[in-house]
Amino acid sequence: MSAMDFDLPGLLQARRGLGYELHARYLNPQLPRMLHAIGFDQVYDRAEGAYLYDRDGNRYADFLAGFGVFAAGRNHPVIRKALHDVLDAGLADWVQFDCGLLPGLLAEKLLARAPGLDRAYFCNSGTEAVEAALKFARYATGRRRILYCDHAFHGLTVGSLSVNGSAEFRTGFDPLLPDGRIPLGDLDALERELRAGDVAALIVEPVQGKGVHIAPPGFLAAARELLHSHGALLICDEVQTGFGRTGRFFAYQHDDAEPDIVTVAKALSGGYVPVGAALAKGWIFEKVYSSMDRVLVHDSTFGSGAAAMAAGLATLAVMDDEKLAENAARTGEALQGALQEMVDRYELLAEVRGRGLMIGIEFGKPKSLKLRTRWNMLQAARRGLFAQMVVAALFRRHRILTQVAGDHMEVIKLLPPLIIGDAEVKMFREAFVEVMEDASRGSGLMWDFGRTLVTQALRTSQRG
Ligand SMILES: Cc1ncc(COP(=O)(O)O)c(C=O)c1O
Repeated sequence: MSAMDFDLPGLLQARRGLGYELHARYLNPQLPRMLHAIGFDQVYDRAEGAYLYDRDGNRYADFLAGFGVFAAGRNHPVIRKALHDVLDAGLADWVQFDCGLLPGLLAEKLLARAPGLDRAYFCNSGTEAVEAALKFARYATGRRRILYCDHAFHGLTVGSLSVNGSAEFRTGFDPLLPDGRIPLGDLDALERELRAGDVAALIVEPVQGKGVHIAPPGFLAAARELLHSHGALLICDEVQTGFGRTGRFFAYQHDDAEPDIVTVAKALSGGYVPVGAALAKGWIFEKVYSSMDRVLVHDSTFGSGAAAMAAGLATLAVMDDEKLAENAARTGEALQGALQEMVDRYELLAEVRGRGLMIGIEFGKPKSLKLRTRWNMLQAARRGLFAQMVVAALFRRHRILTQVAGDHMEVIKLLPPLIIGDAEVKMFREAFVEVMEDASRGSGLMWDFGRTLVTQALRTSQRG
C-alpha cells in the first residue's frame, strides 16, 4: 500500500468498535477495566454541542465536557471552520526562528481579558502551563519553595505533582520539589509558611477541581497581599476554572484578586488542539528572559502551533458572540438553585456548592437506620462508592455523563459545556430526582449495583 492509499474514514469503518480491545492490549489496561466496572464502556460515534451519540443513535448529555475542555460545546462550527482555514492556509508553522502572527494575536486577546498581566508563554497542556508558572516564580523570586492547598490538583508531571494536595497521586513518586501545604483559605497557615523566607509562590485553584471546594471570599486578594509582603507571588491556576466556567472570564475575578501568574489550558483548545498558557506580569518575563543568551531558557518545540492558536482565537470569538460566561452564570445559578432545593428533601444529600457551571453535589451519612446500614456497607469497602453509584445511575438510566469529583470522596461534579440552557437544567433536575428517590428507598437496582461496586473494590484492594 502506498501512502497515497491511506484512508482514515476507511480505517475507522474497518476497525469500528475495537477501541476497548486495543486499549486493553496496547494502552493503559486499567482504563477499559474501570469503564467496564462502572458501566461506562460505551462506543460513541459522534458528538455535537452538549451531546454525545452512540452507534445506535442514543443521545447522552455531556456534563463532563472532556474534564472541562468543551466550553463552547463539541464540534463547534466556527472553531471547526477556523481549523479548516488554518490547514488550507498552508502556513509556515514551527519555523522556530521566526515570529508568527497567530501567537501574537492570541496573546493580545488573552491578555486583554487579564488586566495587570502583560505577557504570555504558550505550551501544550495544563500541566505544562503549571510547570512554566513554577519555574518562572522560582527564578523571578530566587526562592525554591512553592506552597499549595489541601486537595489541590495542578497536573501530573513532576513539578505539578509536587504541588498536588492528594496522597493518592503523590505516593511512590518521591522525592518531589520542596513544598508546603496549607488548607484552602487559611491565611494564618500561609503566614506561618511565609515566615521561613524561602517561599517563591502560592499556587491555588480559585475553585478546586477535586471536590469542588471554593476559596472563601476575600482569600485570594488577602493571600496576594500577604505573599507580596513576604516577597512571594500568587499563581492562580485557571486551567479548569478559566474561560467563563464560573461565570466570569477568570474565577479569580470574583475576588478582585490580581495574581502575578495565571495558568490556562483546557477550553482554550476549542475542544480540538491541545494548548496551554502561562500569563504573567512583565517583570517576571523580563527576569526569566533577561538576555539574548536566555532566549530559549524555557521553551517547548510544539508551543504556539498555528492550529492551537487558531482554535484559541476562534474559541474567544465564540465566547464573546455567544456570551458563554454570562450563560454559565445564569444557567449555573438555575442548576444550583434546582439542586439546592433538594438538600432538605433527601437525607443522603449533604451539600450543593459551586460557581457558575462548576458544581459539586456532596452526599453524606443518612439518619434512618435502613439507609445508614447500606451507606456503611459502601463506606466500609471504599469511600466514594455511593457517589459512583449515583454517577452510574445517571449514566445508565438517564444517559447523563458526570464524574465523581475525586478519589475517596462522596462528591459528584457537574462540568457541562457552557452552552447548556433551561432544557438541560430541567433534564438534569428530573433525572437527579429519580435517582435520589430510588436511592432513598434503600432497595432496588441501584443498591444492587452498589454491592457489585463493593465486590470490585474489595477485589481491587486485595490485589493491592
Ligand atoms: C486546575 C488544573 N490544573 C492543571 C491541570 C492539568 O492539566 P492537563 O491535564 O492538561 O495537564 C488540570 C487538569 O485537570 C486542572 O484541573
